[in-house]
Amino acid sequence: MDGLFICKDKKYIDQVRGTSILSLLARKDDMEIMLYEFTAERPNSITPGNTAGLMEFYYILEGSIIIEEGSKSIRMQKDDYFYVNNIKETVPFRTLTDTKILYITSQPVYNLLYTYTDELRNLLDKSEQKDAYTYKHSKRVQDYSVKIAGKLGLSGEINYTLALASLFHDVGKCFIPDEILNKPSKLSDEEFNYIKKHSTYSSELLHGKFVEDISKIVEAHHERLDGSGYPKGLKGDEIRIEAKIIAVADSYDAMTSNRAYRNAWTPEEAMNEIKHCIGTFYDKDIVLALEKILIEEGILTK
Ligand SMILES: [Fe+2]
Ligand SMILES: [Fe+2]
Repeated sequence: MDGLFICKDKKYIDQVRGTSILSLLARKDDMEIMLYEFTAERPNSITPGNTAGLMEFYYILEGSIIIEEGSKSIRMQKDDYFYVNNIKETVPFRTLTDTKILYITSQPVYNLLYTYTDELRNLLDKSEQKDAYTYKHSKRVQDYSVKIAGKLGLSGEINYTLALASLFHDVGKCFIPDEILNKPSKLSDEEFNYIKKHSTYSSELLHGKFVEDISKIVEAHHERLDGSGYPKGLKGDEIRIEAKIIAVADSYDAMTSNRAYRNAWTPEEAMNEIKHCIGTFYDKDIVLALEKILIEEGILTK
């Protein structure tokens, strides 16, 4: 029947395994329905989301937990439920036995939750050791990208996908030799071709760890509107908006940072260069959104 979705035999949309197992069961608009599985005696917490109006609903299907609420410890078990609405403080809880919880949220949180899995933290650390620039750069590109999406009024879902993709966009640099990454002089064609592989490596590292979207967006962060980018030479609408946003945030941050081979440009110089490439490399609305943000933050003058 049209519109009826029957899911048997643990067929989830996506699943992430860390210290707990989180499975995405269903998603509609901004709402997500998930299954949380914890082993016994695990400390955990419900942390305030950074999305306004986020409601999180928890229904205990199996097992029991203790919620610490101020000085009170509240024991919850099968068929008990609780929900949080715009909490301001972290609520700690721990499992007493193996526990399964049905978890429903009014905003997409799934992609964000597993940013914090150990495996991904290790991936980022690995690229940081390789090239100190990469990590701080990744955080800054994430920051600009999320702000741009906010300025453009994009949906919560795009914002979450973007937050993850932008953070991990250069993680594949951990496979590029240090001598090439940090080379103070001009790169040979061969060396540059090697560096170009990092977006594919990043995408391969993320493949299977996130919904496929993330790895595709990451792969496309060096694509350019006119098809002159890499690795696939995608053009215009073939490039997803998240990748176009990362491209602008990434280029701005790279231009305004000191690198082994050149000194940083000023924000004005970088913005002029980026504006010069509107339509050929970069999307106009995205560039103008970044410019507005930089003006609001007092980094650029009007
Ligand atoms: Fe990159
Ligand atoms: Fe980058």
